[in-house]
Amino acid sequence: MNYIVTIDGPSGVGKTSLGSLLAQEYNSNFFSSGKLYRIIAKYFIDHSTSDTSNLQIEINEELQITLNSFSYSDSDLYIKNINSKSSEIAKIKEVRQIVSESLTNLSKKLSNGLIIEGRDMGSIVFPNADLKIYLDADIEVRSKRRLKQSNDSETKEDLLKRDDNDKNRAESPLVIPDDALYIDNSDINMDDVLELVKEKLKLL
Ligand code: DC
Repeated sequence: MNYIVTIDGPSGVGKTSLGSLLAQEYNSNFFSSGKLYRIIAKYFIDHSTSDTSNLQIEINEELQITLNSFSYSDSDLYIKNINSKSSEIAKIKEVRQIVSESLTNLSKKLSNGLIIEGRDMGSIVFPNADLKIYLDADIEVRSKRRLKQSNDSETKEDLLKRDDNDKNRAESPLVIPDDALYIDNSDINMDDVLELVKEKLKLL
């Protein structure tokens, strides 16, 4: 498959689980766009800067990322202070432009398609994606999942704060793209979500 499939939705909704399963199923590439915001947040903290003028992001075909030649491990990125800092710096227009450009370039060099998750993948970055998915779930379900994933460090209040940042920012807020397949997975499991998406992909 050589499609672009976008998965958008709020934090803790299962976008990464769905994207990874789809990538396995179709032998495709899966990328989490939030990782770029996390890397920029980590770089800003480490270098005590918020200067966006010299940020060079490289993503190779193995989906390894460097920012100004620095690379970061998931244990540096998926932690409490980076959760909140990434959500804050994601409001900055220049940051969003850099991320968007890096992702467009990435999509052009991959040969087995791209399944990509985030907040504005279908609405802004890949408006011509072959399939756009918007995954949703109620806050209680999401916060239970997130607490578990984060070893109890990301609470319901943290999640609500990130939802607020993501949905109400001026630049590329989280919205449901008009042409998206909307799936609320509050009461269904990931296997059922996967089946719904596979049915849709058969039609392409
Ligand atoms: O998906 P994540 O939790 O790794 O994302 C971290 C933050 O990055 C999230 O709170 C908002 C921001 N983000 C964004 O603004 N747009 C995206 N496409 C992906 C993430």
